[in-house]
Amino acid sequence: MVPTIHFHKTVTSTNTIASELAKNGAAHGEIVVAEKQLQGRGRLGKSWSSPPGKGVYCSIILRPERLKQEDYAKITLVAGLAVAKVIENYGNIECYLKWPNDVYVKGKKCCGILAESSFSENPADRFVILGIGINVLTELDEFPDELRLTATSLYLETGKYISLDILIKKLHSEILHQIKRLEYSGFAEILKEWRERDFLRGRKLAWVTNTGDVIHGISEGPDESGRLLVRDEKGVRHEVISGDVQLAQKKKPQDHQS
Ligand code: BTN
Repeated sequence: MVPTIHFHKTVTSTNTIASELAKNGAAHGEIVVAEKQLQGRGRLGKSWSSPPGKGVYCSIILRPERLKQEDYAKITLVAGLAVAKVIENYGNIECYLKWPNDVYVKGKKCCGILAESSFSENPADRFVILGIGINVLTELDEFPDELRLTATSLYLETGKYISLDILIKKLHSEILHQIKRLEYSGFAEILKEWRERDFLRGRKLAWVTNTGDVIHGISEGPDESGRLLVRDEKGVRHEVISGDVQLAQKKKPQDHQS
């Protein structure tokens, strides 16, 4: 079946438009695509830089009827894996996944995912909006100053001019395929493939909890529920479901001196 694509030149945020469509009954798989976003949103109240025509800015409406509410946390991880597979298929690109929602290439972030869900007792009112932003053709000077050391685009890493239209079609079909896989075959195999690309596993990180506390520890990777396991410096294991997780800063040489 041909998916319904809602294409816009400029929007505030494709997630906002998709959410309105879903509330008005839009079907599983309908997708909102924009050339430019004025208020692209990221996790934890961050913004998503969306220079016109340089990236994929899209939101897919999902109504995964077989999933329970506790499965919804897995959708972001499933989507990350789908994005990684699509990008890797362009050849010669290794993708890494940073829990819960980032795709990294050569140590820098090229994609972010924002899943927003509405869970209701009435199955007809349940949906997930899967917002995906990929930096595709972005040049370094088109990133905000504060992102230039940490963000990248597929063009910067490969020198290839990838067609946004073709990338969106591939992405849409891979996302729907992986969601169906989650619904019908479960999370275990998906998790295995996710862990093969785990950017944080075994690395030192700082987890900033929702109350602002900072816990330092080592990542043990996501568990079967999609939660990140972090072992802190006292050996206590934490199951992280939300908050910000950052790689611990590398120490400068003088920091090692006593
Ligand atoms: C993150 O890294 O924190 C998530 C970024 C998600 C950005 C995408 S771009 C398309 C969709 N619309 C939005 O406003 N956000 C998502």
